[in-house]
Amino acid sequence: LIAVDTVYLNGEYLPRSEARVPVDDRGFLFADGVYEVTPAYGGRFFRLRRHLDRLKAGLCALRIDYDGAGVEELHHRLVELNGLGKEEVCTVYLQVTRGVAPRTHHFPPQPVTPTVYAFARAFRRPPRERWEQGFSAISHPDRRWARCDLKTVGLLPNVLAQQAAVEAGVQDAILVKDGMALEGAHNNLFAVFGETVATHPASNQILNGITREYVLELARGMGYRVEERPVPVEQLRFASELFFTGTTTEVRPTVEVDGWKIGDGKVGPVTRAIHHAFLDGVRQETRGQEREAAAYG
Ligand code: PDD
Repeated sequence: LIAVDTVYLNGEYLPRSEARVPVDDRGFLFADGVYEVTPAYGGRFFRLRRHLDRLKAGLCALRIDYDGAGVEELHHRLVELNGLGKEEVCTVYLQVTRGVAPRTHHFPPQPVTPTVYAFARAFRRPPRERWEQGFSAISHPDRRWARCDLKTVGLLPNVLAQQAAVEAGVQDAILVKDGMALEGAHNNLFAVFGETVATHPASNQILNGITREYVLELARGMGYRVEERPVPVEQLRFASELFFTGTTTEVRPTVEVDGWKIGDGKVGPVTRAIHHAFLDGVRQETRGQEREAAAYG
């Protein structure tokens, strides 16, 4: 099999090495755009509609005029063209910027066509043995803007926080603002206190993850008490378990924060049960989608 990395750019499928964006693209100059990362399990997308709704909300907030025609189709095409349909998990990255125009802070006076770029790639989850050991995190000041609910490509504070985590030799950074543990640099944070599962409410201070929403559904269905409330960073130490959720995180147990052991320092039963339910549920939901598609084919 030839490894062709085919990407999508403005209506065309082409090799990544041939894809070009003009230097005056407002994504390059201003981070003036939004993006999504959507997972596919065995080539079948998980909650693509929800991801695209979130994209639409972001475009609307930024007043970028992209009608999204053919956007679902391009997701499927990218998985196919790159031979990722058999991968256990792959992701499609989609980015829409305001477009190319001479640099002005205000919108281009003449309407421009948004730049639409997308690519697909395989997602390698950590081996089971690694997951079983649990992961570590650091706390880090949240230096982002006041609209973290929008998935914009302006990610510099997230990049710096994640780099701090890497340099500390850990996997995740917990963003802290006004004493509250909000979320990770690229994932949402859950704290478990006995049979209670707590996570920050979906405000302008966090990105409301599609995985977060799914895990909340699962946790409620499993009979846990669910609290959507700000969690003070000092409370994390007293949590029995911590975990992160996200498209490229799935459900990831954290057993140590800033060198402090969480609970007994081992992956806990609630995280384990939710992870299990997550993998099961995702498989079921994406399989159901295939049956539906087959019925129409
Ligand atoms: N990140 N919070 C932040 C700040 C994020 O960037 C993400 C996703 C999430 C989780 O959202 P979801 O469950 O919908 O993936 C929470 C993506 C994967 C990224 O930037 O690559």
